[in-house]
Amino acid sequence: MHNILLLFGATGDLAQRYLFPSLLRLFTDGLLPEDFWIRAISRSSHDTPTFHGILRRRLERTQPAFSAKQLDAFLARMEYVSVNMTAPDTVADAVRQLAQQGRCISFLSLPPSLYVSTCQGLAQGGALADPHRLMMEKPIGHDGHSADEILQAIGGLIDETRIFRLDHYLGKPTVQNVLAMRFGNAILEAVWNRQHIDSVQIFVAETAGVDGRDAYYAKSGALRDMVQSHLLQLLCFVAMEQPAQLHTNQIRDEKVKVLRALRPMTCEQIAHSSVRGRYTAGKIQGEYVQGYQPSDDVGIETFVGVTAYVDNPRWAGVPFYLCTGKRLAARSTQIVINYKPVAHWLFHQPDQASAAANRLVIHMQPEEHIQLDLVSSLTGSEWGEITLDSFPLVQANDTGLNRRIAYERLFIDAMHGQATLFVRDDEVRAAWAWIDRILAAWNQTKLPLLSYPAGSWGPKQARPFLPPFAHPSGATA
Ligand code: BG6
Repeated sequence: MHNILLLFGATGDLAQRYLFPSLLRLFTDGLLPEDFWIRAISRSSHDTPTFHGILRRRLERTQPAFSAKQLDAFLARMEYVSVNMTAPDTVADAVRQLAQQGRCISFLSLPPSLYVSTCQGLAQGGALADPHRLMMEKPIGHDGHSADEILQAIGGLIDETRIFRLDHYLGKPTVQNVLAMRFGNAILEAVWNRQHIDSVQIFVAETAGVDGRDAYYAKSGALRDMVQSHLLQLLCFVAMEQPAQLHTNQIRDEKVKVLRALRPMTCEQIAHSSVRGRYTAGKIQGEYVQGYQPSDDVGIETFVGVTAYVDNPRWAGVPFYLCTGKRLAARSTQIVINYKPVAHWLFHQPDQASAAANRLVIHMQPEEHIQLDLVSSLTGSEWGEITLDSFPLVQANDTGLNRRIAYERLFIDAMHGQATLFVRDDEVRAAWAWIDRILAAWNQTKLPLLSYPAGSWGPKQARPFLPPFAHPSGATA
């Protein structure tokens, strides 16, 4: 198992919010190697005791379950080094000695513009040679072209087999469960196609706002930040063909086929196939929150709805409604499979027009439950005509309450060299190719940026992209 972590971007939001808490949990549970060592690296000119102080205060606040002794033991495994990531020589100096001492994993939690210079420094310092590994946070680039430049430059420094590109959604058990549900249940897989499925909704609603990530977000927006990665990975799991085996590259091969089958967006389609919005001030769970107003305003969206089509025999003609937004009325991630109605309807109560079609809802967070909407006559009158009513079957999963942070799983997998839950270079390229067309169509058609109040379900025009539970429009807080 790899025993040294070179964590670049150690003072950044991701590291402080998720990476160190994940490492603390793994360490305290005895899941890291006995001689595990972290070299925390960032630009800020702290020394190790100052960095320990900052991290300790943060962990005390956000991880109250850990004792002072546990925090001491964790921080004793960590030193801090200040490095200028634009200068490869300095990076090389910061890692050379450790690269000779043990098996290193470099984790880049940096703006993508620093990826290449940092990796050049890592290579110079010997930290990308076999058996060392590289973990890279999303996004890889901000469009297909910049992604390609990064992939090519880094691809020349380290083998693809030792690169672990993160999409933390892949570390969520509820996301992996989509494969389990699909390929472990004959009754689902048999009706998982265009003959039976009318549409699919992939919905990721957040109550959180941009919150202190302005520098990154003001150049990104919801399409690049969420759809290019998390929502397309969810789409891949819903739409991919069954691999012959659960082997890393067999799964990735099937995912990339889905991404390559996505129908390119055109300017003619964009207005009725997408919605973009940005939150204004409002209330979330009773609390007033400000609107999002980036200083350098280039029309960045915090909400996006977009219709995808996977042009292959299984999915031809089936719309996949992808939708995500910040500062929405509730946090909810779900996949909704809307089935086609019964072909020949026998009943009068309700009549065919009012009959509800079957629906499978996979609730992924914050609650974990599976809901299958059927109809039955069990609750109808015992006399006269058969009367049908909705008959939802709901199975909640309580273990979801104590989930590990997705990054915990991803750290352990990368340390073991298990790459299934990481994104291959061709997936990154194919995802950007589809996103680039949407961005180009937005630019060319000047698709308006609609406002929505924080605490609502997005702009009114987004309704077709919302799952049924979010249909009553307006703020709920
Ligand atoms: C990150 C995005 O990748 O995912 C954030 O950059 C977003 O903007 C986050 O808030 C959502 O992750 P989760 O696990 O809270 O759904």
